[in-house]
Amino acid sequence: MAKLVINNESRKSTIAPEIYGHFSEHLGRCIYEGLYVGENSDIPNVNGMRKDVVDALKEMKIPVLRWPGGCFADEYHWMDGIGPKEKRKKMINTHWGGVIEDNSFGTHEFFELCKQLGCKTYVNMNVGSGTVREMSEWVEYITFNGVSPMADLRKANGHEEPWQLDYVGVGNENWGCGGNMRPQYYADLYRRYQTYVRGYAGAYPIQKICCGANSNDYDWTRKVMETCFEHSEPHQHGFMDGLSLHYYTLPETEDDWNYKGSATDFTEEVFYQTLKRGVYMEELVTRHGAIMDQFDPDKKIGMMVDEWGIWTDVEPGTNPGFLYQQNTMRDALVAGNTLNIFNKHSDRVKMANIAQLINVLQSVMLTEGAKMIKTPTYAVFHMYAAHQGAELLSSELLEAGTVGSGKNELAKVYESVSEKDGVITVTLTNNSLESAEDVEISLTKDGSAYSVCEASAVTGKMNAHNTFETPDVVKEEAFTAYSKTSDGIKVTLPACSVVSVRLKK
Ligand code: AHR
Repeated sequence: MAKLVINNESRKSTIAPEIYGHFSEHLGRCIYEGLYVGENSDIPNVNGMRKDVVDALKEMKIPVLRWPGGCFADEYHWMDGIGPKEKRKKMINTHWGGVIEDNSFGTHEFFELCKQLGCKTYVNMNVGSGTVREMSEWVEYITFNGVSPMADLRKANGHEEPWQLDYVGVGNENWGCGGNMRPQYYADLYRRYQTYVRGYAGAYPIQKICCGANSNDYDWTRKVMETCFEHSEPHQHGFMDGLSLHYYTLPETEDDWNYKGSATDFTEEVFYQTLKRGVYMEELVTRHGAIMDQFDPDKKIGMMVDEWGIWTDVEPGTNPGFLYQQNTMRDALVAGNTLNIFNKHSDRVKMANIAQLINVLQSVMLTEGAKMIKTPTYAVFHMYAAHQGAELLSSELLEAGTVGSGKNELAKVYESVSEKDGVITVTLTNNSLESAEDVEISLTKDGSAYSVCEASAVTGKMNAHNTFETPDVVKEEAFTAYSKTSDGIKVTLPACSVVSVRLKK
């Protein structure tokens, strides 16, 4: 039996809602088909945005959406995507499948989508192949509320009012697809480009995100922080408000991207290997965070893990450039473990964006024509939504043991606990394929006064997944395996499960 001791008198940090953020790129069927079907589609839509998808994302409380890439961002020229649709330039999406991009989804459509979703906006700008002027004019087009060439152009294109631009990414993966730069070179470019992300909006700060490291490239973090971190007050148009980090979990290989492994057909050994590689996020966040602490001990800027998730082989028979993969209980556990890790590091991690929202990599939804299914990862994001904006409580897990073996050994249970409006939310994973786990949850204050007000779980075989024919194989269900104790509650976590329990006096 494991014990989870919650110190409900010790609040550690606020869990930024944006930790539950998402990423959408002009890649495969993410934007086109997944989110945007066009105003003339037979698929029910509002101004071209799929209604079923928007409704499900709102129910999941999507807090922020990153767009337009990814690698696509450093080849995207925003002026191609404004004005009358029939006149917009067509181009080849060289990164992703060599298909024609008709630019029918551009700036106006992105902000319309975010308006429908009620979420914050994160636009990743082009440094790799774009100019400072292009970037600066995009910010002016989006945010300026006076008389200026770009504001006038926006108005001429039918949008009188400026939009709210919450986050700007100054380049993407500039160590790779965003220009193959060395850290010193990128850092100098960052200093220059960010200067022209002007605060036209005045009333609110645009948060600037500097391109951070790939996985464990600690040298990148050190060099970029050294050159770019000059920050008096947070959000006062300082040099940087965030530094990104990208880390993908590859199930079967560490470096051969041609053999990542199947999304649904894998062995128990690969299952544990995947989970172990997923929780490597803990080490990455800790070590990159320690470097950031050397420059920014007061944690004024955020670590923005703006790409993470499982990356497997594509579904057989689909375009390899579209990165379309299925999603199983293994994905649910990677999501559950990772989100618990982010919550526990919420003093530094201020945003995270799982890759990608729909039809690409570890998605929360998949579509096929008019059909839409929610994945096991959707269930986890929905269950964890109560952590958004809550206060992280100090918690310690004892005697839970481990699963997997050798290099694939990891903790059986990952947890995090938060409190908001008097309700304590406890989220737990059971990474074991074999055994349930009893967890005795105790609270240091008034434990006996608390009882469960809401509880749900997602569980199933390791490769259980939903299909368009059987959409409800894996879904969030009511959880009832709990009982009251003298200072809290006892729960029994089923094998291979993610559980959320909410407690109230
Ligand atoms: O998410 C797919 C790709 O992965 C993104 O375009 C890129 O930033 C990363 O390498």
